[in-house]
Amino acid sequence: MKITVVGAGAVGASCAEYIAIKDFASEVVLLDIKEGYAEGKAMDLMQTASLNSFDTKITGVTNDYSKTAGSHIAVITSGIPRKPGMTREELIGINAGIVKTVSASLVKESPNVILIVVSNPMDTMTYLVHKTTGLPKSRIIGMGGALDSARFKYRLAEAMEAPISDIDGMVIGGHSDVGMVPLTSHATRNSVRVSEFLSEDRLNQVAADTKVGGATLTKLLGTSAWYAPGAAVSGLVQAIACDQKKMFPCSTYLEGEYGLNDICIGVPVILGKDGIERIVDVPLSDAEKAKMQESAAGVSKTNALLEL
Ligand code: 2OP
Repeated sequence: MKITVVGAGAVGASCAEYIAIKDFASEVVLLDIKEGYAEGKAMDLMQTASLNSFDTKITGVTNDYSKTAGSHIAVITSGIPRKPGMTREELIGINAGIVKTVSASLVKESPNVILIVVSNPMDTMTYLVHKTTGLPKSRIIGMGGALDSARFKYRLAEAMEAPISDIDGMVIGGHSDVGMVPLTSHATRNSVRVSEFLSEDRLNQVAADTKVGGATLTKLLGTSAWYAPGAAVSGLVQAIACDQKKMFPCSTYLEGEYGLNDICIGVPVILGKDGIERIVDVPLSDAEKAKMQESAAGVSKTNALLEL
């Protein structure tokens, strides 16, 4: 199983590291445009192999897509990350051109590839890949919901002073500070609704903290986060590579599901060897439905800025 990660920056390298540590892939190709950078990161990571007990071979290449040929899965992290105070949507001008070129180059070398889009604004970049590559929608997956859900679970565990392994919860909608829809009414602690443990005000605070999860880290770090994004991507890659049929919220092209059309936005999907094998229809409350519509309107507004 060959996996390509485009962009050897913090998110790409962290993603390659988690994939290697989980030891399910034979090869990870790390590609970057900066001369020697991916080669350096790959070598550094390979020197952890004996320490971390993995056999995955990580190779670094400078912008040579021929080395990605035959990839089963490719992750696109290329583009610029946001700086403190920026929204993800502000990155569209630079990142759209990069993502379009990168996805075309990947598909040329690996026509059967499954693409995972991480670059921001992620839902719009996923839509761009859908509109420009001609790949079936099951093979285009936007990574946002898995990360946002991990941040939601972190905040819920913190509020309840509970171990994270007790918590289950999901965030759907757009991967943006205003567009995320944390499903607080569905979240549980060992099958008990979290509303049994937390007041409505505290739950609202958890949802608000979750939505600005990325912005909070960007402010602290001076650039956007990488450990949780890398781990979230590796979870999606593993679900596909190992045909796990796991459910994650991912950005996918909708044709009527959730009452939405011609948009890529986060909804629960089943991931297996063919990519998105099913979109799961979760019954939403009227308030959640309204939030989802509002979120979709925001994503569509950003999509309208694309020159397709
Ligand atoms: C984040 O939320 C990188 O968009 C990503 O951290």
